[in-house]
Amino acid sequence: MLKGIILAGGKGRRLGPTTLAVNKQLLMLYDKPIIFYPLSIMLKLKIKDILIIINSDQKTNFKKILGNGSHLGIKITYKVQKKPNGIPQAFTLGEKFIKNNKVCLILGDNFFYNLKLDLKKILKKNYNTILLKKVKNPEQYGIVKIVKNKIEKIIEKPKKKLTDIAIMGIYFFDENVSKYAKTLKPSRRKETEIVDLIKIYLKRRILNYQFIKKSIWSDVGTIADYNKISNFIKLKEKATKIKIACLEEISFKNKWITKKQIKKNVNFYGDCEYSNYLKKLV
Ligand code: TTP
Repeated sequence: MLKGIILAGGKGRRLGPTTLAVNKQLLMLYDKPIIFYPLSIMLKLKIKDILIIINSDQKTNFKKILGNGSHLGIKITYKVQKKPNGIPQAFTLGEKFIKNNKVCLILGDNFFYNLKLDLKKILKKNYNTILLKKVKNPEQYGIVKIVKNKIEKIIEKPKKKLTDIAIMGIYFFDENVSKYAKTLKPSRRKETEIVDLIKIYLKRRILNYQFIKKSIWSDVGTIADYNKISNFIKLKEKATKIKIACLEEISFKNKWITKKQIKKNVNFYGDCEYSNYLKKLV
């Protein structure tokens, strides 16, 4: 089975001072909490068993909105990360959850639009896959250098421009990922690094990559990106009259929930735009 982890802890300093009180992933991005966006990708990938990794004081808040996921026809569990010690900690904290399953990790502040993934292709090969996209600001990302179709170098936040190919915040790893994540040592930033984990798979020659071309992708961790994406969502939703990351809509399409459940969710959310959209669906 394919399981999902969303990493939704972190300090969110760049979105301070708001994030001193509210977790970044619970902030509203245009018309819904940020966490809805990565969660919608999980649902689109038909992943039903999802672990959300959160800060120690946030369980009540996340549960208020997402509960145990049954209203979406999925199962959501939570795990506390005491300190933001690095992205690979998702796999050590999630070791029992992953057990001997394959896993997809999505970063909780990442926004994707029109992400067309060939999951069958990913599953057919040996599964371990990173997604790559050309970006204008490679110094903010983990980047790769590709020579003759082979990954030659992986660097986290390069100081000098080496390439403009960034690793997106969605990763697919096999059942050994927790074992490998445990071997990682903290970097100079005092965090374990996802690029170091990816390098282990590269060294073992079991790493695949897929280039993503047409979709929009950004994290919303800076005020500029947060506002840019918020505006993008506003314009797109207005133009298409379709909500981006409407969880109920995807679950309904997946046949995981009924119209009756959607009506229940409308009552739960109360009188808001998101509910009005759900009402139109049913
Ligand atoms: P970052 O944006 O790198 O870190 P941050 O969210 O703490 O923000 P800032 O740098 O402004 O302080 O994290 C990327 C995503 O991964 C984000 O959704 C938070 C999450 N994360 C964790 O949950 N735990 C961690 O240990 C790290 C490093 C990140």
